[in-house]
Amino acid sequence: MQSKSILVTGAAGFVGYYLSERLLQEGHTVVGIDNLNDYYDVNLKHERLNKMKNHSAFTFLKIDLADKAGIDELFATHNFDMVVNLAAQAGVRYSIENPDAYIQSNIIGFHNILEACRHYPVEHLLYASSSSVYGSNKKVPFEETDFVDNPVSLYAATKKSNELMAHTYSHLYKIPATGLRFFTVYGPMGRPDMAYFGFTDKFFNDEPIHIFNNGDFENDLYRDFTYIDDIITGIMGLIEKPASGHTVFNIGNNNPEKLMVFITSLERALSNSLGREVEFEKIFEPIKPGDVPATYASTDKLQEAIGFKPETSIQDGLQRFTDWYVSYYNKK
Ligand SMILES: NC(=O)c1ccc[n+]([C@@H]2O[C@H](COP(=O)([O-])OP(=O)(O)OC[C@H]3O[C@@H](n4cnc5c(N)ncnc54)[C@H](O)[C@@H]3O)[C@@H](O)[C@H]2O)c1
Repeated sequence: MQSKSILVTGAAGFVGYYLSERLLQEGHTVVGIDNLNDYYDVNLKHERLNKMKNHSAFTFLKIDLADKAGIDELFATHNFDMVVNLAAQAGVRYSIENPDAYIQSNIIGFHNILEACRHYPVEHLLYASSSSVYGSNKKVPFEETDFVDNPVSLYAATKKSNELMAHTYSHLYKIPATGLRFFTVYGPMGRPDMAYFGFTDKFFNDEPIHIFNNGDFENDLYRDFTYIDDIITGIMGLIEKPASGHTVFNIGNNNPEKLMVFITSLERALSNSLGREVEFEKIFEPIKPGDVPATYASTDKLQEAIGFKPETSIQDGLQRFTDWYVSYYNKK
């Protein structure tokens, strides 16, 4: 793909940072925006931005998606060829505590992006949706054609709403738009609010980890864990293939793991990184409201479109995470 001018929202975030890096490596010009909120340790967001500050083709601007005038001015000033909207209030559980944040960033914020793409046309709008739109669907693997009208958290409802809003704007204003349904993304410099990161923190704080799976390993929760590099390769493949209208893709690894297998793999990876035996102290709890029993992506549509499907094993991916963690936080 020839060099493009690309807006990445949520550029200080986990996925936004890795995507911006990859786009810069491929010779694109990237404007990254983020409101740098403190939903999780903001030092990590600064750390990610720091890594990009020497790229001459990267510009960072602190802008909130919900600031309509700010977003409008951004689009008026830069002539974006493409937009990747990754900024959002993420997390399923926090949407029970602070629903307002989800409406502000995910609904009002996304609407501002759509309006901007209407008034300043782009070749392709991509935006983050989520596997959570599948709710507690029983049929696996989840396919893009499945019925997704039963979200079980406000977070999921905002992501499903984004798909509807994008569909409408794409239809009315001829915006080529692609929704990306990510399945639990993990990796180095990932999100501290996610379980694998929190478990690792707890181990070093000598605290037990709480596992919300009823302690029933036969009927354990299944999660489709996707390594960050696979997510980025998926986005890079899709970015070059604007649909004529609106479409959605799963990006997951099509190989769900039991939560307990994930946790023992994390213990093993951490043991390797530290050179000593690690075992978490575990407390089993009931499944939390809004958590779904299984996430499992069909990747057929993705593979057909770009000839790629995520394949990094949790053993390899978690090893890279724990190696980073131990070195970044200087753990022994
Ligand atoms: N990581 C996952 O497992 C996962 C799974 C499914 C979907 N997603 C979606 O992918 C996207 C990226 O997720 P992530 O894991 O990188 O999360 P993240 O929280 O690390 O990144 C999101 C970034 O957006 C910024 N942001 C939030 N609200 C904003 C606003 N109103 N204005 C400007 N910036 C704002 C945050 O400061 C943050 O840096 C999100 O839309 C998320 O919902 C992530």
